[in-house]
Amino acid sequence: MAMDYIVDKLGGRIAFGGDYNPEQWPEEVWKHDVALMKEAGVNLVSVGIFSWALLEPEEGRYEFGWLDRVLELLHANGISVDLANASASPPPWFSRKYPDSLPVDADGVRQSYGSRQAFAACSPDYRRAAAALTTAIVQRYAEHPAVVMWHVHNEYGCHNQPDFGPHAERGFQKWLQDRYGSLDALNKAWGTAFWSQHYYDWAEILPPRRSGTWVNPTQQLDFARFSSDALLECFKAEADVIRAHSEHPVTTNFMGFNMGLNAPVDYWRWSGHMDVVSNDHYLIAADERNFQELAMTADLTRGWAQGKPWLLMEHSTSAVNWQPRNVAKVPGEMLRNSLQHVARGSDGALFFQWRASRAGAEKYHSGLVPHAGRDSKVWREVVQLGRVLESISEVAGSTVQAEACIIHDTDARWGTELDSHPSEDARNVPETRRWHDALYRAGITTDIRQSTDDLSGYKLVIAPMLYLVTDEGAAKLHKYVEAGGTLVITYFSGIVDENDHIRMDPVNGGGYPGAFSELLGVSMEEFFPLRSGDTVGLSQFGSGTLWSELGKATDAEVLATFDGGAGRSGVGGSPAVTRRAGASGRGAAYYVATSLGRTGLAELVQLLCSDAGVEPVLGVAPPEDVEIVRRSNGTKDWTFVINHSAHDVDVPLDGVELLSGAPTGGTLILTAGGVAVVATPA
Ligand code: GLA
Repeated sequence: MAMDYIVDKLGGRIAFGGDYNPEQWPEEVWKHDVALMKEAGVNLVSVGIFSWALLEPEEGRYEFGWLDRVLELLHANGISVDLANASASPPPWFSRKYPDSLPVDADGVRQSYGSRQAFAACSPDYRRAAAALTTAIVQRYAEHPAVVMWHVHNEYGCHNQPDFGPHAERGFQKWLQDRYGSLDALNKAWGTAFWSQHYYDWAEILPPRRSGTWVNPTQQLDFARFSSDALLECFKAEADVIRAHSEHPVTTNFMGFNMGLNAPVDYWRWSGHMDVVSNDHYLIAADERNFQELAMTADLTRGWAQGKPWLLMEHSTSAVNWQPRNVAKVPGEMLRNSLQHVARGSDGALFFQWRASRAGAEKYHSGLVPHAGRDSKVWREVVQLGRVLESISEVAGSTVQAEACIIHDTDARWGTELDSHPSEDARNVPETRRWHDALYRAGITTDIRQSTDDLSGYKLVIAPMLYLVTDEGAAKLHKYVEAGGTLVITYFSGIVDENDHIRMDPVNGGGYPGAFSELLGVSMEEFFPLRSGDTVGLSQFGSGTLWSELGKATDAEVLATFDGGAGRSGVGGSPAVTRRAGASGRGAAYYVATSLGRTGLAELVQLLCSDAGVEPVLGVAPPEDVEIVRRSNGTKDWTFVINHSAHDVDVPLDGVELLSGAPTGGTLILTAGGVAVVATPA
């Protein structure tokens, strides 16, 4: 059961709608809401996400009257509901009654209620109350004809993560006992011989609270893993209650790349527990290439969904309220964003939120119905989007095929966010983004998966800063090359094992990157991170930033070396880019020992694609800032062409353009900022 169940319930249409919070409005507004929903073609709304306080005014006493009326009204008007179990924000009465359910920060300060998500994941009172509320809701509405999906909680980990309080302390100790079995194993894994940290009793072990200086890195990493698992337990407990009463798919909305070490939720571990993988995405207004970041996030979400269709649960019609400068979307931008998500596998375009609030912290966040009402740019574009989605309904259920794949392991990412490293600039997500952007510019559709996934279908696999790699992940990548694949490993990859211990032979040492040195045919001996803003010249591929290394190629062709650079570089002559041919005569393992600039990276990506036989969707690179992605169901293809540029473009593409219903006649002519979806036989 997955996204196709929802599409089926929606009459074969792509999901369109958003969070609907009718409790924020007088009841007489509701009938106008549904009339507007019908005008726009809205077919799915998420209801009740932050309604706990109104649904349960005191412990065990429920007031469902208003929700009954809302669901009836929606059903009567043919609008389906993704019903929340409302566990995301405990009410003030709850926090006051159970003050130790509130989360505690790393300084030991207990947070207050008054915003949202004020609970500690391991609080037994929170878990009991959330389960009781879930039971009451699902028992009442499991058979309600409006309901087609269950929305558990909301963005787990947003705003209350991680918790360092006493419940987390006990939970962490238990989690560690399960993971390590003995204190001896834990002491080894954590390297506690260093700085006199040896533990003699499980009760001595704490969450990584504020200490004089760097807290044990393995402790930090394990705490992130534990914190993610603690929230996952909350999800599973609530989902189990729902599944015991209902057949509808269960989801919780993920937050794209917002799952770093400071708010750790490992979606790779979570996604298998979802019936539908759903994600929220918001553009960062200050980011000039935010549309490419959107594409990367959508590709990652498709990875969590194992390539199957997923659901865009939230994005915004225009500005948000939580950035320093909340820049509104320009005309056409919301349509482009929505189609980008659909192009990359979402079978829906949902938003936060239906009606822009009048009160509360998010009143300056855009909605489908803006403060200005119907006579507005936003509303006209919402209606237009409804029509567009209707016109491309046949795309639902189809999938995206990619020949290239980027590896993005959560532990590797978290590992690079630990303190006390060679350079604070060496972070996984920015490096991943540079590679995704280079592929995006070249028109290459890219999946994002983890190292332990089946990679055999890809011609090109890129592992940007796979700092921490498990034995299993390293073995998979070795096998991938042995089987004829083309693999790229970048600097600061394969450095540590799952315990964040350097991969090396304790007696004889051994060159970096320990997990891949042999596979790559290189042996690097010393990191030379660059000063902020510095670059290092290369004999090929322009220059590098952030990082350089001293070392040698032991069994690889050197494609570029580092320059000596006016006495400031200690790495002159060391290999910067290398290639070791695959043993079978097919495939290759490349190493890139620096962060390449845009032009050099583009040059290298061209080389990699021709070496691996990877091609852009239309065989040639698209015009600049024109995104071309294809979905297919095996018999029919749909090519999405999204013009982010300020220029009209011609694209050689023959088929029927679904938005206009007109054949392209061999060439698609797309205006600046325009979008098109062209159907062709597969
Ligand atoms: C998140 C939340 C929503 C809302 C939006 C605002 O995605 O899930 O409730 O706060 O952010 O952008």
